[in-house]
Amino acid sequence: MSLKDKNIVIGICGSIAAYKIASLVRLLVKEKASVQVLMTPDAKEFITPLTLATLSKRPVLSDYIDRYTGTWNNHVELGLNADLLLVAPATANTLSKMAHGSCDNLLLATYLSARCPVMFAPAMDLDMWHHPSTQENVKRLLGFGNILIAPESGELASGLVGEGRLAEPEEILQQIQQFFYRPLPLKGKKALVSAGPTHEAIDPVRFIGNHSSGKMGYAIASALQSLGASVTLVSGPTQLPTPPNVNRHDVTSAQEMLAACTTYSDASDIIVMSAAVADYTPLKVASQKIKKKDGNLEIALKKTTDILTTLGKKKTASQTLVGFALETENELQNAQDKLKRKNLDYIVLNSMRDEGAGFAGDTNKVTVIDRKGQVQQFELKSKQQVADDIVAIIAAHQGL
Ligand SMILES: Cc1cc2nc3c(=O)[nH]c(=O)nc-3n(C[C@H](O)[C@H](O)[C@H](O)COP(=O)(O)O)c2cc1C
Repeated sequence: MSLKDKNIVIGICGSIAAYKIASLVRLLVKEKASVQVLMTPDAKEFITPLTLATLSKRPVLSDYIDRYTGTWNNHVELGLNADLLLVAPATANTLSKMAHGSCDNLLLATYLSARCPVMFAPAMDLDMWHHPSTQENVKRLLGFGNILIAPESGELASGLVGEGRLAEPEEILQQIQQFFYRPLPLKGKKALVSAGPTHEAIDPVRFIGNHSSGKMGYAIASALQSLGASVTLVSGPTQLPTPPNVNRHDVTSAQEMLAACTTYSDASDIIVMSAAVADYTPLKVASQKIKKKDGNLEIALKKTTDILTTLGKKKTASQTLVGFALETENELQNAQDKLKRKNLDYIVLNSMRDEGAGFAGDTNKVTVIDRKGQVQQFELKSKQQVADDIVAIIAAHQGL
């Protein structure tokens, strides 16, 4: 499978497995990919830039600046022009830095600026690989939408036997080819996803909010994008990074979320409203900070406009409209009523009763109900896997 016109940036780290990247570069160049090699300073102890520059037919980049000429390597441009950034071998050290936003070499600066998909292929001793901190870092990177090329089991450079060997160059090439040639059943479809909480201002410094982290909606945006949809994510205040290649529109209040969602909804084939939108907002927002006084404070609230109901009324025959319900009692019945009342195609029910399900965590356990009352119950899974399940249902509904 040709990789013609694909710009692939390979970031090599200081692992004994770095020598395998010479073969990988040869294989990629044979498939007509343009390969730009970046090396961490330590990687140069393991394989020479000369070898990689010769095989990739371009100078290898490693330093921010050339001390003699004052020229500097533009990490932003590297990240913008790439179709793929592959970090391989990814050391425990670099994985940790990627997971926590460190930026003390060119490879890391390129990673932080990259808008393209990122793959990482770890290589390390089995105990380093299994250490909880490494596993936590890998989980974080997966949460950012980065793609893991899992290490293999076998004899390691340390002499130990176990998991931690860099995947073979042929295997990495195959995963890259599969990535570029993966089926994109939602290509040409536009999707709108809402995520996160809303903040309803009480005065200039206080608001009414909720515990939604936005993780579920971000995972859905990412899953829709990875099947080829063009995704707009309307997000309330969250701490999450934007999934790659997703257009993010930030809002704060329920009113702003309604305005953004109604703007994008007409052109959308798929609408997934997973945001935890405030049902009530202060009747008046105080222009100055409310001072503490004796006695209780009462804040009058007014109802916000229901976004799902608004979109349900405008829904066209070709649109798929999905809502979320978080119920604390009589869950199935309440969710089914909501689906009918709001003219949804599917409602995804999270139960507060299930351990590991709901707002802030990385896992969720959902039940999906359709218009015919059919109920699909899923196991407790990572939010990304739950998102994949929901998106598979949506793709089937779109007739794909
Ligand atoms: C001989 C040798 C082999 C090493 N192999 C690995 C390895 O396979 N994986 C790893 O995570 N670290 C390995 N290290 C440790 C890294 O080189 C070290 O953590 C370094 O700081 C990584 O820097 P970098 O991530 O910026 O490239 C090795 C060190 C030595 C001396």
